[in-house]
Amino acid sequence: MITNIGLLGYGHVGAGVAKLIKTESELLGDKLGWPIRLKKALVRDLSAARNFEPEPGLLTTNPDEVVGNPDIQVVCELMGGLEPARTYILKALEAGQHVVTANKALLATHGMEIINKAAEANRDVMFEAAVAGAIPVIRTLKEGLAANRIQSLCGILNGTTNYIITRMSQNNLSFEDALREAQEAGYAEADPAADVEGLDAAHKLALLSALAYGVLPKISEMHVEGITKLEPMDFAFAAEFGYVIKLLAVSSLHDAQGPLEVRLHPAMIPAGHLLAGVNGTMNAIMIKGHASGDIFLSGRGAGMMPTASSVVGDIVEVARTHQIVSSSLRPPLLGWRTLKNDVVMCMNEANLNYYLRFRVFDKPGVLSSISGVFGRHNISLAQVIQKSQSPKTDWVSLVVLTHKAKERDLLEALAELKTMDTIDDMRLIRVEEFL
Ligand code: NAP
Ligand code: HSE
Repeated sequence: MITNIGLLGYGHVGAGVAKLIKTESELLGDKLGWPIRLKKALVRDLSAARNFEPEPGLLTTNPDEVVGNPDIQVVCELMGGLEPARTYILKALEAGQHVVTANKALLATHGMEIINKAAEANRDVMFEAAVAGAIPVIRTLKEGLAANRIQSLCGILNGTTNYIITRMSQNNLSFEDALREAQEAGYAEADPAADVEGLDAAHKLALLSALAYGVLPKISEMHVEGITKLEPMDFAFAAEFGYVIKLLAVSSLHDAQGPLEVRLHPAMIPAGHLLAGVNGTMNAIMIKGHASGDIFLSGRGAGMMPTASSVVGDIVEVARTHQIVSSSLRPPLLGWRTLKNDVVMCMNEANLNYYLRFRVFDKPGVLSSISGVFGRHNISLAQVIQKSQSPKTDWVSLVVLTHKAKERDLLEALAELKTMDTIDDMRLIRVEEFL
């Protein structure tokens, strides 16, 4: 007995998987009871430098040597992007191969099609590495917490942005300087848009929500906001109020019938909260189950070996379950059977606390006219700070923390405030109190 693996992609993650399969062959063989072998790996460029030297003859540019190859039982899609990754995965499932993938963008976009094809072909699609790198959060939701109705999920799901935010917060760097540093350190891509605009974390949040609630939210229906508008001054004000700022992924189900609240945006969180101490490239997820209570998972959310750790864990699980459970007895793919697509709560309905920063003209009556607008829109203020700016001008920073308010009311108030010529800039950051 032997399980043969084919890779689609031999980049950062693919090379890590090859390294683990080769260097830990004895450990993996002992755990599984039989060996795992890497048979073929698809790449574009046979001559490119690799992070782990491939065995002679391993690399190929012909997808047919992996997809549909009868000698390969498990195909690992580690190439990224939507196409041709989607087509290769569907073909592999049709050919009777199991699939392991780290591709969150693909699953968040075409997850239903892929999962349905896998169910039809009675094959597995595993994707532990697609969310939070090395952290076994998919397995935790699918299996460990299977007895729970999940009430909420909250996490830090992108290492690049968490690194940038940590540097802005702890070292007073601007967004641009912290991003440049992240690129130099190799954390951020040359084109960092998917990370800093929040899309990468939104894909991961969509997948976690699908497993937690049976609802795969469409990214277009989610509130997705990145970190590009954060300024050092907001981190300083946050500290004054006892908060830190994080790019927070949140989903919760207030009622079994929905709607699902699902949002990804910078948030101020209490400095003493567990998530506040998750710094640098680390990821973390807090899950609340009705029976389990709060679960907190933390670890490396990206990188060659942490991500490969999850991919190889999936390979071992697929190999083991398919040996133990005969095909006619295979259980359904947990958590993906009841997907509905139309139950995402509109962000206007969110009921949150807010941090608002205005640049206002410092003259009598300005503060009372601003507070009057809030009052008319049913928004109650919890704290107000005014700070003169340096060098000293007639313009000052006015910072307001609100009590819980409907987002719709807040946006209406801000629209009215925008028309006032005594205000020339405003920033909004949501506050998560975890109450
Ligand atoms: P990468 O370093 O860019 O590697 C991609 C690999 O796929 C390369 O070997 C490339 O070949 C190959 N490839 C791409 N398009 C191809 C095509 N059309 N035909 C044949 N080969 C093709 O990417 P990565 O960082 O390893 O990421 C892979 C996947 O893992 C992505 O879905 C990513 O989102 C996910 N992921 C990555 C991380 C991480 O830390 N990097 C963490 C979690 C999840 P060449 O080498 O010849 O160009
Ligand atoms: N760009 C992602 C991050 C990689 O920074 O977290 C892991 O998905």
